[in-house]
Amino acid sequence: MRKKVTIVGAGQVGATTAQRIFERGYADVVLVDIVEGLPQGKALDMLESGPVVGSDASIIGANSYEPTAGSDVVVITSGIARRPGMSRDDLLFTNMGIIDGVTKQVVKHSPNSIIIIVTNPLDAMCHVALESSGFPRERVIGQSGILDTARFRTFLSMELKTSVRDIQAYVLGGHGDTMVPLVGYTTVGGVPVSNLIPKARLDQIVQRTRDGGGEIVNLLKTGSAYYAPAAGVAEMVDSIVLDQKRILPCAVLLNGEYGLRNLFVGVPVKLGAKGLEQVIQLKLSAEEEAMLKKSAAAVQELVDVMHKKKAAG
Ligand code: NAI
Ligand code: 2OP
Repeated sequence: MRKKVTIVGAGQVGATTAQRIFERGYADVVLVDIVEGLPQGKALDMLESGPVVGSDASIIGANSYEPTAGSDVVVITSGIARRPGMSRDDLLFTNMGIIDGVTKQVVKHSPNSIIIIVTNPLDAMCHVALESSGFPRERVIGQSGILDTARFRTFLSMELKTSVRDIQAYVLGGHGDTMVPLVGYTTVGGVPVSNLIPKARLDQIVQRTRDGGGEIVNLLKTGSAYYAPAAGVAEMVDSIVLDQKRILPCAVLLNGEYGLRNLFVGVPVKLGAKGLEQVIQLKLSAEEEAMLKKSAAAVQELVDVMHKKKAAG
């Protein structure tokens, strides 16, 4: 029997993720949205691509959660997205309410699922999902680091005219302007990137990575990125559903690792059938550690704002 993957939010990221998972063929997919007809129409359209792309998986759309029952993995993308002039943090209060409501429905119908959060502001929304679900930290994981790292690797590949496959890198921290590209752990065919690109140019590439989401928003004007984000989510779903035990940068609740506690921050983790199976502890330089702390402080600020809002009712 195939595994079951639910994707909540049939917008740009949700639908593109659904397409990527459906085309892999290893899981049946349920696409959920509040807009009537939207998930049904997109799901049927994707199903009808099955004979051409060679997928026998099923994909259905729904406006309720009954069809999602017993899902192994639930990807949550529902919420509003950035428009020009908006930061990820501007989405906080609207998306907080949406994630709370969606998570409670997900837990009711799929109590053993692993939840992957995509909605922004990412790290703060992971906190909402963790608190609303009551799940252990192993089963609530955020997607951001794979996307940020993919952007960094893309820009480095453009600079060096080298295959993206031979560029190893990590971008850690919160999914925001303070994210931390780890230049010290970035290698190209095993050679440290700092031996290949002068520091001033490398700094520009790091900055372009930090601004990567905004660059797409400014080009699209009506929304934010979705092809690369969906690719990142699909890589996480692969690792969980197929128990690949990949080491991927993901947002997880830290319990003392990296000197941080009770906070979702992007770090390298092992992802397998149980969800988060291990936090990989990298040795950071003093500068990288300071940047990670600064990034964590930005996440903490949002979490505090949310908790105050929740307490005020
Ligand atoms: P979108 O606007 O295209 O889609 C969002 C969908 O959510 C809409 O179809 C909407 O009807 C649905 N929705 C709203 N409330 C809902 C509810 N209560 N239940 C079910 N569905 C609901 O937005 P897009 O581009 O797909 O982005 C979605 C979210 O993902 C945004 O918050 C965006 O900022 C975030 N994002 C995060 C990334 C990451 O790396 N973590 C990357 C790209 C986007
Ligand atoms: C991105 O980085 C908007 O978070 C989204 O593209």
